[in-house]
This record gives sequence, C-alpha cells and structure tokens, in this order.
Amino acid sequence: MTRPNVLRKATSIDDLRNIARRHVPRAFFEYADHGSYTQSTMRANRSDLEAIRLRQRVAIDVDSRDLSTTIIGERAELPLALAPIGLCGMQYGDGEILAARAAQEAGIPFCLSTMSICSIEDVAAAVDKPFWFQLYVMRDRGFVRSLIERAIEAKCSALMPTLDLQILGQRHCDIKNGMTVPPEITFSNVMDVATKPSWAWSILKGKRKTFGNIAGHISGMDSVNTLAQWMSQQFDPTLNWKDMDWIRSIWPGKIILKGIMDVEDAKIAASLGVSAIVVSNHGGRQLDGAKSSISELEKIVDAVGSDVDVMFDGGIRTGQDVLRALALGAKSCMVGRAFVYGLGAGGQAGVSKAIDILKKELDVSMALTGTRSVREITSGILAH
Ligand code: FNR
Repeated sequence: MTRPNVLRKATSIDDLRNIARRHVPRAFFEYADHGSYTQSTMRANRSDLEAIRLRQRVAIDVDSRDLSTTIIGERAELPLALAPIGLCGMQYGDGEILAARAAQEAGIPFCLSTMSICSIEDVAAAVDKPFWFQLYVMRDRGFVRSLIERAIEAKCSALMPTLDLQILGQRHCDIKNGMTVPPEITFSNVMDVATKPSWAWSILKGKRKTFGNIAGHISGMDSVNTLAQWMSQQFDPTLNWKDMDWIRSIWPGKIILKGIMDVEDAKIAASLGVSAIVVSNHGGRQLDGAKSSISELEKIVDAVGSDVDVMFDGGIRTGQDVLRALALGAKSCMVGRAFVYGLGAGGQAGVSKAIDILKKELDVSMALTGTRSVREITSGILAH
C-alpha cells in the first residue's frame, strides 16, 4: 500500500523517519533506528558530519551540473548506493525487492544483505540489472560457499564481505522489544501491529516472513526457533584475512570490503587487490566507542586512496552529507537508514523519495559550493 499523499509532504529524510515511526511496529522501527549500547558512536556519525562546514562560493556559472559518476567501474547516476540492510522485508513486505527496484530506477547500485527477508533468487527475478550481494562469513563454511555460488548464479555484480560483525554488538532495544523474525505473538506486539494495519497488510502480501537466504537452504532449519538458534551461533569470531583468499577462490568477480575503520586494516585490505573498501562502523551498531566513520575517512583515503576506491557510510541523512564525504575523499557513499526510513514510510515510492531528496540536496549544495560535477568535488569546497 503506497501512501502518496503522506510521501508528497515529506521534504527531508527526517520527515520519512517520522512517517516510518508511525507506520512500522516499534520493534522493527527501533531495530533500524537504534545503535549499539549507549549509541555514542551512532550519534558521533551524525554530529561529526554536521560539524563539517562547506565553503559558500558565488559568481561561478553552475547552470549545467552532472551528478553521475562511476562506482567500481560501473556508471551510476549518483555517487550513492543502497547499503546492505538485514530484515528490510520487515520494514515493508518484499522490502528488498522494492528497494532494489527503486535503486534500479534511480540508476544506482543496490546491495542485498545476507540477512535479507527476500532471497537472492527473489531479487534476481524481480529486477533487470545486476545487484551487489553482501556476505557474512559464518561458521558453516559449506553454507557460505553455497551463498557465494548462489550470488554467482544470480549474476550479482559485486560481493561485499562485511568484516565488522564477527561477533554481535548489542542493541538494548532489540532485547527489550523481544525482536524476533517473524514477530513473536505477545500482547504488546499484537496491540502494536493492530495499530499498523498497512504494515501488516504489506507483510501479509509479501513473499516471505523469515530469512530468505537461509530458511530452506540448510537441512532441519525450517522452524523459526531452530533457525534463530542456528543464526545466533553462526557469526564467526575466527574471521581473518586468510579467509579472503578462500572467498577469492570461489568468487571470480569484484569484491568490496566493508567495515574498515583503521589505516592499518585499510592497507591490508588494499593490498588484497579488491575493487573498493567501505569506511564504515556499521552505522554505530557494532563497536560503541569507535570514532565516527567520517572522522577516519580522510586518513584512510590518504593512506590507500591511490590503490583502491574508498567508499563511505555512516550517518548520511542529507545530500550535504554526501558532499562532505566526497570532499574528504570518498569516491561514493552508501546510505542505510536514510532509505530504510523511506521504505517503512511508503515502500518502493518511499525509497524513491529518499533517493530523490538526497539527490536534490546534493545538486543544490554542489551548485552553492560552485561545483558542477562529482569530479570537481575536492577538499577545496570545505571551510577550514
Ligand atoms: C545495517 N547494516 C548492515 N551491514 C551489513 O553489512 N549487513 C547487514 O545485514 C546490515 N544490516 C543492517 C540493518 C540495519 C537496520 C541498519 C541500520 C544497518 C549496516 C549498513 O550496511 C550501513 O553500514 C549503515 O546503515 C550505515 O549507516 P547509516 O547510513 O544507517 O547511518
């Protein structure tokens, strides 16, 4: 169910967040909205971005502007990709398919999470263009191999191993809300869902109600309880750089390593000959107390930017934020919550709205800094 009137009035990602909060049950809204522990790193992602001031320039002809670029060698209409998000399909039924379609329409990459509700095959069947697949390396390496093989079969155009979730950071809200997939039937959940009929309808109509890449692909893992138990034991603290060789031996295509926050790690990652790395602290959902991802970006670009494309995510809520990250050397950015709020607010139209808001803000802000193309964005547009 789209909500054209509500969406039309939204003028910012914050508006989409407020709409999503009204339409998505609390357990799933807070799952997306919150960070780990005290949430200090999540807050720093925002406040450090906002603290970066841009240089206002005038009397430069900026009539013709071009926001297109290339991301890992492929043309993109914006320097932006949709980040991998677990459980998108619990923000809105078939959420991953809808987000992938919105990304395709906007001409930007979409990355499907290992922990998605729609499966790799569901998304491949629903979109024409290739998408990226994000990989969690789990203890069951046979299963990880089969995931990579399924991504090859689905013609995914890049594999994105995520390195910063070898063990799960805790979000207090998920425990307090009893967040389970599918939702547990408790009195407060039922009351909450009862006040969110359009959400319930979209989920009912959706293809799947549980982890689509996992359920049905591991024997004995069809019941919800055993699946949850299996997954909680599957994140693998032994994950190390040697595993990258193993991934390479199976995956022949482009690789983007996600979750780099340290110059030493960036140097190792760049030496592996990958297509890109993503400077990311998982949106402040893992190591609470880590620095904001924007505060580490420039150092990492200085260290490895000539060897590998450096992408950025964490805290982007405006086009100005995209501009700030590009000015500090990112080749492109990913957004997580910004599009998830759009999805919760209004399905595919909501994701398109989120992308459109970021695009227009980026376009206007580029013009006001005297910049005509993504190539022209340098640290010279920052006010020091
Ligand atoms: C994530 N993120 C994430 N990353 C990943 O590699 N695999 C995943 O399954 C998920 N799942 C996920 C769920 C939700 C609800 C959020 C908010 C985030 C992290 C994500 O890809 C990205 O790094 C952050 O979202 C970026 O920060 P912002 O844009 O949300 O502030």
